Amino acid sequence: MCGIVGYVGQKQALEIVVAGLRRLEYRGYDSAGIAVLADGVLDTRKKAGKLVNLETLLGEDPLPDSTTGIGHTRWATHGGPTDRNAHPHVSEDGSVAIIHNGIIENFTELREELTNSGVTLSSDTDSEVVAHLLARILPKVGDLTVAMREVCKELEGAFTLVAVSPLYPDVVVGARRNSPLVVGVGDGENFLASDVAAFVDHTRNALELGQDQVVTLTPEGVSVTDFDGNEAVVRPFTVDWDAAAVEKGGYDLFMLKEIAEQPKAVADSLRGRMTKDGRLQLDEMSLSDEDLRGIDKVVVIACGTAYHAGLVAKYAVEHWTRIPVEVEVASEFRYRDPIVGPGTLVIAISQSGETMDTLMALRHAAAQGARTLAICNTVGSTIPRESDGVLYTYAGPEIAVASTKAFLTQIIAAYLIGLYLAQVRSAMDEADIRAVLEDLDNMPQAVDLVLDTVEPVRAIARELADCKSVLFIGRHVGFPVALEGALKLKELAYMHAEGFAAGELKHGPIALIEEGVPVVVIVPSPSHFLHDKVISAIQEVRARGALIVAIAEEGDEKIVAFSDHIIRVPVVPALMQPLVSTVPLQVFACEMATAKGHDVDQPRNLAKSVTVE
Ligand code: F6R
Repeated sequence: MCGIVGYVGQKQALEIVVAGLRRLEYRGYDSAGIAVLADGVLDTRKKAGKLVNLETLLGEDPLPDSTTGIGHTRWATHGGPTDRNAHPHVSEDGSVAIIHNGIIENFTELREELTNSGVTLSSDTDSEVVAHLLARILPKVGDLTVAMREVCKELEGAFTLVAVSPLYPDVVVGARRNSPLVVGVGDGENFLASDVAAFVDHTRNALELGQDQVVTLTPEGVSVTDFDGNEAVVRPFTVDWDAAAVEKGGYDLFMLKEIAEQPKAVADSLRGRMTKDGRLQLDEMSLSDEDLRGIDKVVVIACGTAYHAGLVAKYAVEHWTRIPVEVEVASEFRYRDPIVGPGTLVIAISQSGETMDTLMALRHAAAQGARTLAICNTVGSTIPRESDGVLYTYAGPEIAVASTKAFLTQIIAAYLIGLYLAQVRSAMDEADIRAVLEDLDNMPQAVDLVLDTVEPVRAIARELADCKSVLFIGRHVGFPVALEGALKLKELAYMHAEGFAAGELKHGPIALIEEGVPVVVIVPSPSHFLHDKVISAIQEVRARGALIVAIAEEGDEKIVAFSDHIIRVPVVPALMQPLVSTVPLQVFACEMATAKGHDVDQPRNLAKSVTVE
């Protein structure tokens, strides 16, 4: 949430910062703003709405040439999405400009204290206080980095802060607690950003910043300390994808590109994880086999789509390992005194690795002594850094706000962990594990096949674009797929959509059915013991006027008589079905949103990386 960019070097800061903001706009698009230092003067431009509004303003009222600048794209928390609440915020005396991501929880007290001391605040944000606090302390300490350290000690909550001051040309200072910030190390230039995508055009050399660290950039160097001024250890890493990965590459939408990338994402996430003799090797997880043998419970914590991936994994992991698996929405986890301890393996699933609800749940689990493992798509992010181990997914950068390829790869990673647990605990025969690994190996091809046959989905979506509500039902692994289908439709098409376990309908939700209500049904294979039960659920809603869109396996002829539309998916083993049946639902939501004229990649009210609780 909120995208942050900082640059200091020899080039035009404005161009670099605006290009960086364009890459980070997925993090929030309520307003955008820039500050540059030029000839000892601080100059800012900011505008409510998407980045394009700021670009128009910059066209009308250009900023001066400058080689030091910071920029921000906002997802509003405190204060509406207006010009005055847009970042950067500048101190009254013009000596400091700051940008902020996160929530400063003690901002009310700080605002009051500043107001009492005669400061006039000019926004409704929690962030603005930082500019005034820095300006107040700066003359006393005479150094922007020292001032930042001192101010950070006064703040509670989550923050990434970046500041510039005309008193310190060619210097950009950043700080982080609980919110993301990475350094890009260039040649005669350096970068700060919420995400490497902002600077990958310029450098792939990056530094992971730790918790409670302050970083100072000049064109020549980068120095990092903790809040007490002690030199800090930072981990360098190389970004393993290039700038093309964060471009649309010929697609109209990032979401369409990312849907199309799913076969590759699945293949990349499987690669290198099996030995030639068909055994699983997950050394990178860095949890010992002994640790894993000692586990008596698995708890998955995640949010949104990642939570749905966890729900899918529960069916498989319990089946393979016979270890109980609980899956919990991360935002609820730590507030209910959960029972976790040294025998619990807590798996945090997060595409971004920065989701605050998941991070806080992870910390709570670690504090109770649980072993923690992250499934994550973002190298260097906080959640894997704070976990005992990590299994990375290799989906590549996901830019569209609605998650697609991350979901499939999260299922893959969770399945690999389940199979690995089964392997080290001898819960399955080696041959059976090998057979599942072969099934997984066939999935990129199966997903590819679905992509070839989704055209009818688009026609159905356009036909149903005016309906008020869509229900999704499924059983077994089809149930979380139904939840995911409904989530995609809500977030993109802004329409009422709900997913239900098909067997639950008769316990209440069936009252929602009236003439013409579309019900999308995730139909298990005819060979599955629940096929007939799902057909019974279809009959119940059809008898009450529902219009049935069935996602059904090739060759399932029985379903024809019970459906108004059928979307075919290839024949795959039951536990693999979510990997194919989710794809048409992604296309369905994308097409529905397009038909309604919505911004698919940047749906209203949302941001991709949710770094506030
Ligand atoms: C939905 C979506 C969100 C995320 C959720 C968790 O399309 O993208 O529900 O899945 O915010 O995000 P991560 O995986 O980054 O923790």
